[in-house]
Amino acid sequence: MPTGVWLLGGRGSVAVTCLTGAAAIRAGLAGPTGCVTELPELRGGRALPAWAELVFGGHDLVTTPLPKRAEALAAAGVVPARLVATLAGELAALDSEIRPVPEAATQRETALRVAGDIAGFRRRHGLERVVVVNLTATEPEVPRQPAHERLDALEAALAGTTPVLPASSLYAYASFLAGCSYVDFTPSAGARLPALAELARQRRLPYAGHDGKTGETLVRSVLAPMFASRHLRVRSWSGVNLLGGGDGANLADPATNAAKAASKQRVLAETLGYRPEGATRIEYVADLGDHKTAWDLITFHGFLDTPMRMEFTWHGCDSALAAPLVIDLARLTAAAHRAGRGGPLAELAFFFKDPVGQAPHSLAEQWSALVCFVRELGDA
Ligand SMILES: NC(=O)c1ccc[n+]([C@@H]2O[C@H](COP(=O)([O-])OP(=O)(O)OC[C@H]3O[C@@H](n4cnc5c(N)ncnc54)[C@H](O)[C@@H]3O)[C@@H](O)[C@H]2O)c1
Repeated sequence: MPTGVWLLGGRGSVAVTCLTGAAAIRAGLAGPTGCVTELPELRGGRALPAWAELVFGGHDLVTTPLPKRAEALAAAGVVPARLVATLAGELAALDSEIRPVPEAATQRETALRVAGDIAGFRRRHGLERVVVVNLTATEPEVPRQPAHERLDALEAALAGTTPVLPASSLYAYASFLAGCSYVDFTPSAGARLPALAELARQRRLPYAGHDGKTGETLVRSVLAPMFASRHLRVRSWSGVNLLGGGDGANLADPATNAAKAASKQRVLAETLGYRPEGATRIEYVADLGDHKTAWDLITFHGFLDTPMRMEFTWHGCDSALAAPLVIDLARLTAAAHRAGRGGPLAELAFFFKDPVGQAPHSLAEQWSALVCFVRELGDA
């Protein structure tokens, strides 16, 4: 079952790491460390497309050739330089499948052209289905409009010349028009509007998101349930994130930063059942490149209100942590689509900071839900 993976932001750090990694694994030049779907508990999932069946394409605003982007990632220590050199031919061949972003007078026309690009990709490669994954730069939070609430109102508004959807949501709309599932790895609005949920439901298309959980929030989703189940009272939880790279530069904008910080803090309130004092700060440090440092300080009370504290520091390579999850998400969402699942995939909460649908926030519970999900897909 050849399956397409359409990467929005296909020339960005996460996407290019993903393309390089998938080519390396397929060629037997690297192992699948970091790919959750290769763990024994999930590997039995007969429903998942095999590595050899994945075909990649995408859209991006920039035109930097993929081999150049991969070389820059190698220079930054994100991917091994010897792999990039060996795979230069494959990356160059993939380049023509990363299309420029279509532009038109109305958002409806733009969406039709995006959907047309994806349909062309599906036809050219004889794909059974395509999963669209949003890896574009994080957008500022958008104010909700009446047109976001109902599909008929949205479609009427899209025909006008005033934009009503942020790019991530327009891509979700175009993906659903093209009969594709949609995964949002970013904190942007994406498919999270009632009108788009209605369209996905109507067309029985699954979608997943939001905001890949790869660093500080991953650790938080393990530690916060520990405090809760030991009945320890968290008094404050503050985090400082220092990051570079394209994502870091984009997050230097306070409006964009707010969307990310809010999705990081939500996991605490939802796991603990109350909101401790403190906030999460994100700062751009260009020199860190794709490497991120997160430092968290937690103060808590134990028996008889005895005060205590803990702190942790996480030094992660963001794109190397994110890229294998993108492949996992594509394989899992394709399998869900194949099994006839439509609407939000809460079972994929394991991968996200701010999961769609009704999902537990503890990583252990999310893992159990994921294992059951893959087992059910295999039986479907
Ligand atoms: N790396 C991680 O661990 C991680 C975790 C969670 C979420 N994310 C999110 O993943 C996304 C990608 O991260 P990155 O580090 O690859 O960023 P990046 O800046 O390196 O890449 C983003 C790419 O998107 C392209 N782009 C921007 N707007 C676009 C549009 N409208 N249409 C098509 N392409 C567009 C840019 O040209 C760029 O190539 C970000 O939103 C980030 O917040 C990353």
